[in-house]
Amino acid sequence: MPHPLEQLRDHALREIESARDEQSLEAARVRYLGRSGSISAWGDRMKTLGTEEKPIVGKLLNEVRNSVTAAIEARAETLRTEKESEALAKIDVSLPGTPSERGSLHPLTEMLDRSIDIFRRMGFALADGPDIEDEWHCFDALNTPPEHPARNEQDTFYLPDGRLLRTHTSTVQIRAMQAAPPPLRVIAPGACYRRDEIDATHSAQFHQIEGLYVDKNVSVGELKGSLEFFMRELFGPETAVQFRPHYFPFTEPSLEIYVKSKALKRGDQWIEVAGCGMVHPAVFEEVNKARGDTAYDPEKWTGFAFGLGMDRLAMILFDIPDIRLFAQNDLRFLKQFA
Ligand code: PHE
Repeated sequence: MPHPLEQLRDHALREIESARDEQSLEAARVRYLGRSGSISAWGDRMKTLGTEEKPIVGKLLNEVRNSVTAAIEARAETLRTEKESEALAKIDVSLPGTPSERGSLHPLTEMLDRSIDIFRRMGFALADGPDIEDEWHCFDALNTPPEHPARNEQDTFYLPDGRLLRTHTSTVQIRAMQAAPPPLRVIAPGACYRRDEIDATHSAQFHQIEGLYVDKNVSVGELKGSLEFFMRELFGPETAVQFRPHYFPFTEPSLEIYVKSKALKRGDQWIEVAGCGMVHPAVFEEVNKARGDTAYDPEKWTGFAFGLGMDRLAMILFDIPDIRLFAQNDLRFLKQFA
């Protein structure tokens, strides 16, 4: 004859097994294990048992309580899994998913990344300067006299306090030399601003990569070699590079760089992409004055500098017809570079 506790347990286990949902399972738990449940009632009854019977029934009561508790937990888990797989069964996996929009780099950023990569391989480090500049860094230190047309209010955005939006990244040449003695090999990418008439090739804001190399016996040959290498890395080995004489106040001699490449859409046209030249001794002298030393002694040091038009380069490389597209944020344009 099984003990009444064992009968109670078998009863409970059957009921738990047949519970169809969480509510009936919970009802069963309360009925057996709740404070006034029938298994719990045996706890009270224990007090009335004799010393012989007590340990036997106590042990049995423990086993019964444990197995019923375990059965309830197992059943609860089964019910949860059943519910989940029912919910999953309703999902039609053959339906197309919700596409997640993937962004892409702006063509100017792409151009910048590629350019920095090439200059890094030639040993150039990155330098930086502010977009809002003083006249000294933008003009005076770069040997540009007060009457020079670039300093005109028609050409340059001036702030009420006399500062200005830099018209070129050549300002960073000065800042880099102020910050460190030669030898120096830096590039400085960034935005520039000019009060140009805005059209397909002119924008009030555009981008340059400035370059500056100062060392002993730097030659025009090195300048040409470095920039030729850069253009061929960027536009392909068949790229032709031409250097034409030009004038900048802060370089002597000064040159403009033109490229032509069959790999490009505008294949048989010479396109102007940069200004460059050998650093003018007057620039070194101005930097020395600001530094208060003679670190950039023009008798000892020579250098070359260049300013690449980033927007122009990107327009050539990606065959973009209008500079204004860079700033219009039109997804139909930007998506083409994804
Ligand atoms: N700063 C010049 C420009 O914006 C380019 C340049 C840079 C020329 C460095 C010579 C040397 O046109």
